[in-house]
Amino acid sequence: MRVLLTGAYGQLGRSLLDRFPADWILLACGSAELDITNQAAVDRIVRRFQPQVIMNTAAYTAVDKAETDRIRAMKINAIGPENLARAARDNGAQLIHISTDYVFDGTKTTPYVESDAPCPVNFYGLSKWEGEKRVQAILPRAIIVRTSWMFSEHGNNFVKTMLRLAQTQQTFRVVNDQRGCPTYAGDLAQAMITLATDANAAGIYHYCGDKAVSWYEFALTIFNLFGNEYPELRSIEVCPISTAAFKQQACRPINSVMQSERTASQASCWDKALGMVMSA
Ligand SMILES: NC(=O)c1ccc[n+]([C@@H]2O[C@H](COP(=O)([O-])OP(=O)(O)OC[C@H]3O[C@@H](n4cnc5c(N)ncnc54)[C@H](OP(=O)(O)O)[C@@H]3O)[C@@H](O)[C@H]2O)c1
Repeated sequence: MRVLLTGAYGQLGRSLLDRFPADWILLACGSAELDITNQAAVDRIVRRFQPQVIMNTAAYTAVDKAETDRIRAMKINAIGPENLARAARDNGAQLIHISTDYVFDGTKTTPYVESDAPCPVNFYGLSKWEGEKRVQAILPRAIIVRTSWMFSEHGNNFVKTMLRLAQTQQTFRVVNDQRGCPTYAGDLAQAMITLATDANAAGIYHYCGDKAVSWYEFALTIFNLFGNEYPELRSIEVCPISTAAFKQQACRPINSVMQSERTASQASCWDKALGMVMSA
């Protein structure tokens, strides 16, 4: 299998690099090697490398900053994927593109499934939804995987932020009225590898961890688990607060719990995967 990976040095990109089958021929590009917003560069690399599958993990992921950095967020999250979809179509490749739970507004009281209508409440979500639509318009058989609350041993994520802050902070105020499904990036990477080999796979898939929690409950789980190894973490105090009391630039959906109505495949228990992050 010939695979072009974009955003190769982000959290998900690095989780994929750890897991690609040894006999796959891989062209891994960080933003320095391939800026997905540069249409000519995308066309040139795809034409020369002739991948069977393009995996796009490149994205503008700074949710709050996107509110004021709109042009850049839209370029990376919508025009970049559009460039990749066009190059994939023109060269007979499949595209696996990653999207987000933040395409939903969070007003549903049950988990979001693939057929639910997006209605983003922040600009990041809007730019990611625009990316989905542009990809589907050009390459209807593209695979779009929506995921949520990703963590891993790589990059910046909630787990690593909590542990870093715990070195200097004893008390944490963590939002307790937004719910979602933490997802281990290694599980998602494995699912993408499986999808890449499935000739019938197409369209939107939801892929996330198995148990829904609030950010507060997620933080408690992290400190309880890591407290076994690092006793100093047991004295950390985690205080639940409301979204209203935690001022952030971008709105967040209250409910971003997802489920798949298309496949039974789900990430492993995310709390078990936390152990892997700890031992890394
Ligand atoms: N993290 C989450 O909790 C979460 C939740 C739901 C969905 N997602 C989605 O999952 C995917 C992967 O997220 P992640 O956590 O791995 O993100 P990440 O760690 O922020 O990585 C994104 C990568 O994209 C690269 N990039 C940015 N602009 C680019 C450009 N113009 N051309 C090429 N590469 C560019 C960045 O490279 P530079 O650093 O060099 O700019 C970075 O390495 C994204 O589509 C994201 O929207 C993430």
